[in-house]
Amino acid sequence: MGVKGLTPGERDSLIAAATAAREKAAAPYSHFHVGAALLSEDGRVFGGCNVESASFGLTNCAERTAVFKAVSEGVRRFRAVAVVTAADEPTSPCGACRQVLWDQCRDIVVVMATTGGAVEETTLATLLPRAFELGERE
Ligand code: THU
Repeated sequence: MGVKGLTPGERDSLIAAATAAREKAAAPYSHFHVGAALLSEDGRVFGGCNVESASFGLTNCAERTAVFKAVSEGVRRFRAVAVVTAADEPTSPCGACRQVLWDQCRDIVVVMATTGGAVEETTLATLLPRAFELGERE
């Protein structure tokens, strides 16, 4: 079963929300500013940015910030996520974020865009084939 696509308008506004979220990035170590925006099934948008730590491994990526914000507000059904950076090419979510997105959103549209206007669209199942799921335990 495929994911339900975004209209061009929905895609543009999700990219705009991720671009705005990117302005909040706290990235004094990498200087790589990332913004994300997660669209819920009921049309709400949750922005997120990367938040770095002086203890580098504690850094939280923009995508996971957006997921944790939405889930902690009780939102559990999603349609799409957008990720925006100022890199030359669109940046795709890191492996950790792919898993966390799959955990909470299952298969959604993933829009990757640059501040320079490049846009790519795919799905989470494409980025994370055979995703790990814990399933039922005794
Ligand atoms: N980063 C994200 O926010 N999302 C990704 O999918 C990849 C990496 C952040 C983490 C760190 O603050 C910076 O980009 C450089 O790795």
